[in-house]
Amino acid sequence: MDSLITSVARDLAAASRVVALTGAGISVESGIPPFRGKGGLWEKIDPMEYAHIDAFMKDPAKIWQVLILEMKNVVDKARPNSAHQGLARLETLGILKTIITQNVDGLHQMAGNTDVIEFHGNFAWQRCMQCDHRLETRHIDLAQMPPRCECGGIFRPECVFFGEMISPDHLNRSRQAASSCDVMLVVGTSALVQPAAFMPVIAKRSGARIIEINSERTPLTRDVSDLLIMGKAGEVINRLLTEIEKLR
Ligand code: APR
Repeated sequence: MDSLITSVARDLAAASRVVALTGAGISVESGIPPFRGKGGLWEKIDPMEYAHIDAFMKDPAKIWQVLILEMKNVVDKARPNSAHQGLARLETLGILKTIITQNVDGLHQMAGNTDVIEFHGNFAWQRCMQCDHRLETRHIDLAQMPPRCECGGIFRPECVFFGEMISPDHLNRSRQAASSCDVMLVVGTSALVQPAAFMPVIAKRSGARIIEINSERTPLTRDVSDLLIMGKAGEVINRLLTEIEKLR
């Protein structure tokens, strides 16, 4: 592993436009369960029954009670781990430009990254479905289910449910970042959900080096990634930063 870490650290230190694509795996060490695999949220509840926009429209109280409160509990307590902090350091060093994240936990911004594209929206804000009034999730009155706005409308999280479109602005900015980077770090994603999982393909086709950091292989590993550093994101990114700091 050491020689792999050293060679990737050299690639990153020499790169001028690194972009990261992150998934739930980067937040596991912050106490937020992943969606798939061991302990995954979708192992406990069916995403089509609880995380699809049609399910929310049909019974918002049920989605609030089962999915949204559960997410609020884990996200409220979560803090950036060393993987988030390492990516923030990479931005400070002028190496990492943009993070495209599938996560809605806000931990990259909390760690200090300033150019974060929240591809699947975010959980920090709720929006009234009647008057579009926005309120931070932490200020929502949970005494009534589903929570309602003063106008009587129902609040919904600003996350992207299954069955919804990705914001065209996020999609365009992500494509732009993916097609202009020289290295893409793909951290903690099962690469099963499109169009997020297509960003590494765009980067690859544009000539970027694709470096995966994951505790397991993914569908990208064989055909798209140039290499996979297998391990926990926090530990791997920590070791990469240690090597990069030596090179400076
Ligand atoms: N370090 C590195 N990788 C990890 C760690 C860890 N500590 N723990 C888990 N992983 C890896 C798993 O091997 C898996 O490949 O992180 C990935 C988590 O995959 P998912 O749970 O599917 O998360 P993600 O890829 O972000 O899901 C994409 O699916 O349900 C939707 O909207 C949801 O944004 C999410 C999207």
